[in-house]
This record gives sequence, structure tokens and C-alpha cells, in this order.
Amino acid sequence: MDTSAKPTAAAQDELATLDALLAQRDWWDQFYANRAKPVPFFGPEPDECLSGWLADGIVPRAGAALDIGCGNGRNAVLLARCGFAAEGIDYSQAAIEWAGQRVREAGVTVRLHHASVFDFDLAPDSYDLIYDSGCFHHMPPHRRDDYVRLVAAALRPGAWFGMACFRPEGGSGLSDDEVYERRTLGGGLGYTEARLREVWGDLFNIHELRQMRSQPAGSGLFGEAFLWALLAQKKG
Ligand SMILES: C[S@@+](CC[C@H](N)C(=O)[O-])C[C@H]1O[C@@H](n2cnc3c(N)ncnc32)[C@H](O)[C@@H]1O
Repeated sequence: MDTSAKPTAAAQDELATLDALLAQRDWWDQFYANRAKPVPFFGPEPDECLSGWLADGIVPRAGAALDIGCGNGRNAVLLARCGFAAEGIDYSQAAIEWAGQRVREAGVTVRLHHASVFDFDLAPDSYDLIYDSGCFHHMPPHRRDDYVRLVAAALRPGAWFGMACFRPEGGSGLSDDEVYERRTLGGGLGYTEARLREVWGDLFNIHELRQMRSQPAGSGLFGEAFLWALLAQKKG
């Protein structure tokens, strides 16, 4: 996979058409409008996998870290608390406003960006850790490979990528073709282990790929067994 390939103007037009077909940004703004909804990831708890990788020293706590699709900022706050120069990006205005509030309440510094990750100029080779909790499984199929290339390009060689994403039982069960036939991702796509290895394995060495550990109430961490926890290191 070539990380430097730039789409032609025709390819850009096609991407824009497909993006419009599966536009989700407004949906996310509505989703975040009621913060009292019983949504598991509306709490302040960071992901158990991210927390564990940092606590165990597998991922060094130093340098620049980016949380893609940061939502209300629960994982970005952890990154800042661990000493990273932390950033979060989300294309939902409502998410970014909530994240700003969480960051202020936590008394930490996180640079928040309101943009689609595809429209944002991520400096190449600049991050030591990129984390994605629940964003990749909302990527439409025509953006999937671009997303992997974008993440790889933004990381320094040898830097880390962590992700939580739907296992098959957590996702909508739609195939890529059905996504376009029905014009919806149906709430997010589930991935098999083999498919995740195929999608991420070209540009990354997969360090760990396991089921997320569901968490008992009061653990201070978020974990759901219908999610994968993936930790990978950029090749090169
Ligand atoms: C399931 S939510 C997870 C939020 C957060 N990571 C968490 O776990 O609490 C997925 C998030 O990804 C964001 N998102 C989806 N596609 C995006 C894109 N292309 N660029 C930036 N954010 C995106 C959505 O707005 C939403 O906030």
C-alpha cells in the first residue's frame, strides 16, 4: 500500500459523491444532543485497552498523541493525563463542544479540532500514538483504505496505533455492497479478525488483537465484549 498516493480530481469527485450518499455528520450531532441518554461511551471512563497499554508501558507515555473521532473526549483526557501533547479530532460540532467541556473540567490540555479527519492536514510522521475508539467501524467502505493510509502517514515509523472497533456480533452485519444498496452503515460495520489483519497488516505490525474486556460497574474503565482491542505499530 502506497501511503503517498494522491487521488486524482475524478477520484475526488467520486469520493464526494459516495460521501454524500452515506453522510453521517448531522446524525452524530443529533446523537450527542441528549447527553443523558444511556449510551455506554457517554461516560467519562477511558477504554480499558488504552489504559492498560499505557499503564503497562507497552506504549511509551511521551510525545504527541491524537484521538480520531474523539467524541466527548474521554480517551483524549487520558492521553493528556498520561503526559502526551494530546489532540482530538471529530467532525461533529456537538462532540467537540462536549469534549471541550470535559477537557476543561479535567484541568488538562487537549487541542481539539472540529473537522473530518479526511479534510484535516495531519503533519506526516508527527504522532507517537494515534487512537481510535469506535470511529473506524463508522468509516464507509470507500474510505477504509484511505483511512489506514492516513493514519500510517501521520505516525512516525515505529509509532503506535490503538483501536477499539466492532466485532462481527457488534456491527450491523451489512456487507460492503449492502451498505451502498441500502445507503447506510446500519450503525457501524463489524469486522472479523482476519479482515482486520488484512486491512491493517500491510502498513502495520499487529502487536495485539483481542476481545475487549467488559468492565464491572465502578471499575473506572470502559470495556464492551462486542468490541475488538487492536494495538499495532507502524512498519518501517
Ligand atoms: C462511536 S463514536 C465514538 C466517540 C469516542 N471515540 C468515544 O469512544 O467515546 C464515533 C465518533 O467518530 C466521529 N467520526 C466519524 N467519522 C469521522 C470523520 N470522518 N472525521 C472525524 N470524526 C469522525 C463521530 O462524530 C463520532 O463522534
